[in-house]
Amino acid sequence: MTKKKDSSAAELPGLESPVLGVTGRPITVFRKPKALKGHGPARIIALCNQKGGVGKTTTTINLGAALAEYGRRVLCVDFDPQGALSAGLAVVTHDVPNIYDLLVGTVKDPLEAIQHTQTKNLDVIPANIDLSAAEVHLVNEVAREQILARVLRKVANDYDVILIDCQPSLGILTVNALTASHGVLIPLECEYFALRGVALLVETIDKVRDRLNPALELDGILATMYDSRTLHSREVLERVVETFGDKVFETVISRTVKFPDASVAAAPITEFAPEHPAAESYRQLARELIQRGAIA
Ligand SMILES: Nc1ncnc2c1ncn2[C@@H]1O[C@H](COP(=O)(O)OP(=O)(O)OP(=O)(O)O)[C@@H](O)[C@H]1O
Ligand SMILES: [Mg+2]
Repeated sequence: MTKKKDSSAAELPGLESPVLGVTGRPITVFRKPKALKGHGPARIIALCNQKGGVGKTTTTINLGAALAEYGRRVLCVDFDPQGALSAGLAVVTHDVPNIYDLLVGTVKDPLEAIQHTQTKNLDVIPANIDLSAAEVHLVNEVAREQILARVLRKVANDYDVILIDCQPSLGILTVNALTASHGVLIPLECEYFALRGVALLVETIDKVRDRLNPALELDGILATMYDSRTLHSREVLERVVETFGDKVFETVISRTVKFPDASVAAAPITEFAPEHPAAESYRQLARELIQRGAIA
């Protein structure tokens, strides 16, 4: 008896094998999302990695701007005393109500701290160096891990997405961000030591889920600063996909000087260089998140 032929797409006449993307999986077309009929309640997503310089702030700004372009109402929360997110979106950081005031309760209404940016649908709660005092201030607070959650609850119905740009540490501020969030997005730079420390981050996420926020999900891992010309970048991406499988976004952010250039111009890449592939990659990430169902 002859062996029955496998009828996979690759063997059917006239059909090519699927085209694979850089993450080694068939390329999915992420469709332009439909307009929303109403707004809120927001999905709150923490952008988190205790390693510095991996693209947390860049991703918060540009994913936020791309979602705003698709008509989503977006609030970005600067949760890093360095204030890079606030600077990158050209909002005022000094002598204005900021996230520290909301945490310590000197300002009660988050609306007083929210600033509009030049991008339609994109708002920010700024931070400045004052926030570095929060760790000390919060130590003696009751339910100190839930303070940001309580602040954001007051405005969650006004937005479709709230993105929290965390500082590079796993201290009390990051625990507050994870406790306030529905999901976590981990940007991971495509370089050899990228995976170092991710186990500790995942452990922290698991602890927060167990003790403080049972609904917390890992929304995905985003490979950043990818350079397709180097074997190094390709190998790291392969390892990341081996380790985290489908949790790795199909969208990969390439390394390009357009990002630092956009930071200097204090504008999202989608406005600084709207036609550049780097802008398109963050639009694709926005579409992927929506198509995966993480965001409405
Ligand atoms: N895809 C990219 N290609 C090239 N440069 C990038 C890319 N993404 C970010 N950068 C640059 O790398 C630097 C670090 O990025 P970013 O500030 O977003 O990282 P971060 O994780 O928020 O850092 P920190 O931990 O210090 O808050 C910035 O100068 C930024 O402009
Ligand atoms: Mg940052």
